[in-house]
Amino acid sequence: MHQNKNQNKNKHDPVLLNEVLQYLDPRPGDKYLDLTAGYGGHALIVADRIGSLKQSVLVDRDENAVKELQKIFPADTEILHTDFLSASSELKDRGRQFDVILADLGVSSPHLNEGSRGFSINNSGPLDMRMDQSQQLTAEIIVNSYNEAQLVDILRRYGEEPKARSVARAIIKARPIKTTDLLAETVKTVWPKRGKTHPATRTFQALRIAVNDELGLLEKSLPIWLELLSPGGRIAIISFHSLEDRLVKQALKQVSGNRLDADFMLLTKRPITASQTEIVHNPRARSAKLRAAAKIKRKGNLHAYSG
Ligand SMILES: C[S@@+](CC[C@H](N)C(=O)[O-])C[C@H]1O[C@@H](n2cnc3c(N)ncnc32)[C@H](O)[C@@H]1O
Repeated sequence: MHQNKNQNKNKHDPVLLNEVLQYLDPRPGDKYLDLTAGYGGHALIVADRIGSLKQSVLVDRDENAVKELQKIFPADTEILHTDFLSASSELKDRGRQFDVILADLGVSSPHLNEGSRGFSINNSGPLDMRMDQSQQLTAEIIVNSYNEAQLVDILRRYGEEPKARSVARAIIKARPIKTTDLLAETVKTVWPKRGKTHPATRTFQALRIAVNDELGLLEKSLPIWLELLSPGGRIAIISFHSLEDRLVKQALKQVSGNRLDADFMLLTKRPITASQTEIVHNPRARSAKLRAAAKIKRKGNLHAYSG
């Protein structure tokens, strides 16, 4: 049994854990690729099922997460500190294949809980929002140096913000904006708070996606992940907003279907969501959507996923 050494500050409850196990169905000896290993929540459980991570690879672009993974897992576990597009390209070049692939997208609880990372409206901090702390681009740079048209584009595309132009103008007028608090206050001048959701939620989401190029990396990575899967292998992807889910849905739909020559079988016709019980314990699970597929194992001119 691998030991979970997660400390409270670094606590991240893995979402949809039972469902991930159901669809990934990890079996002894399987090779596992975790593209967003984070604090090892899913990886620890998968590792127990497959027995050893010797032939597996864990990836995360966040330095703190990687340090935690290095503490949790044995020294011979391959842990890559890079974004999942670079990691997948490298693994493909090395001719690697995996039986079980997981991508649990987005940010971890420590990202949101530590004000110094700048991701959260509720925890004051500098406007950072970088998942990879060595990256140049921060939210502060975007907020304080992008022109109105660029800000409007980010707010519309990644935040689906209906008042994108007014928010962009308010941001430009309030410059310099160096903290999450000041940004949240600035957006509030356009959208006086109503209802349960903070009016700056869409702005924070948009900036976070732009800073980390979340959709660009996902779109380019999806076809490579499908190539990295060995015949009979299973892939599960958990997304947290509709823009991500759309890309996942399209990529899986494109390669699967009822055609005889389809390479994949969709394991989830509709996205799987968390139960009320899970949401009560872990509110982050509220927006999680899981989609999964299996690579078809061809047998002569027949082919089947041997589930
Ligand atoms: C939701 S958390 C994963 C949590 C993990 N499944 C667990 O149970 O501990 C997402 C993780 O993915 C990482 N991440 C997000 N986008 C990434 C990318 N493009 N490349 C590599 N890691 C990424 C984040 O740094 C974060 O640690």
